Amino acid sequence: MLSYQHSYHAGNLVDAHKHARLAEMLVARPADAPTLAYYETHAGRGLYDLSSKEAKKTGEAKMGAPVIAALPKSHPYRQCIAQTQKRYGPRFYPGSPLIAQHLLHRQDTIQLFELHPQEHAALRTAMPHDRVQIEKADGYAGMLSLPTEQAARNGLLLIDPSYELKNEYADMAPWLQQLLRRSPNLSVLLWYPILKSGLHEPMRKALMQAFPTSPYEEVPFPADSGLRMLGSGLWQYTPLSSLESPQQALT
Ligand SMILES: C[S@@+](CC[C@H](N)C(=O)[O-])C[C@H]1O[C@@H](n2cnc3c(N)ncnc32)[C@H](O)[C@@H]1O
Repeated sequence: MLSYQHSYHAGNLVDAHKHARLAEMLVARPADAPTLAYYETHAGRGLYDLSSKEAKKTGEAKMGAPVIAALPKSHPYRQCIAQTQKRYGPRFYPGSPLIAQHLLHRQDTIQLFELHPQEHAALRTAMPHDRVQIEKADGYAGMLSLPTEQAARNGLLLIDPSYELKNEYADMAPWLQQLLRRSPNLSVLLWYPILKSGLHEPMRKALMQAFPTSPYEEVPFPADSGLRMLGSGLWQYTPLSSLESPQQALT
């Protein structure tokens, strides 16, 4: 049974890193881009109350706030937060599905996987719209089971695991290779923790071997972050990256 709940961590340093980059990827598409199919393997509950007892218990959002405030007001991530607060109140914070919904175009589609029953139910409440498909299912298996025609569409996938299963690190690169053979027009943003134990390192190495032109970015956290991880990592794949030259950091 899964125990991770993002309510304890919403708006923290990880979210500030991951959600800013996700927002940038969502707006980076050309204005005349065709319909985009947006996916998340690990969606969470979509909307977070930063005054909840879970959020207060860790106080992690307090570390994310200055990082977010340092971004320009016009940054799409800040605009999503402003929209969410306008709609729900100043204590609310948008999870990745709400950020995507805010920045996607009307004709785009959204498909989200979330296994935890409580998080899944909350996600349904946060995103009741017809064009959003929400599955209480394993996101890894779900992405490999997309109908062939849908799998071939232009898409963007956020992979944001809680890494509760140790094999998730080892399975990631082979799973991505399998997925991208079926879905070659998919852009991907994968989050991973930088761990003192180095558990993430073989995964990053396997990703670099399998996708040598795909960049990654690792942001170290201050020593007093109070988090168990040392920093936040993002690995990015774009279908055209195979035409570009060498490994480079995300900018
Ligand atoms: C880090 S949270 C997601 C946060 C969300 N992406 C955001 O940024 O707002 C990870 C979520 O994945 C869910 N989860 C864990 N393993 C899963 C799996 N195999 N398939 C689908 N959901 C899973 C957990 O229940 C948890 O809600």
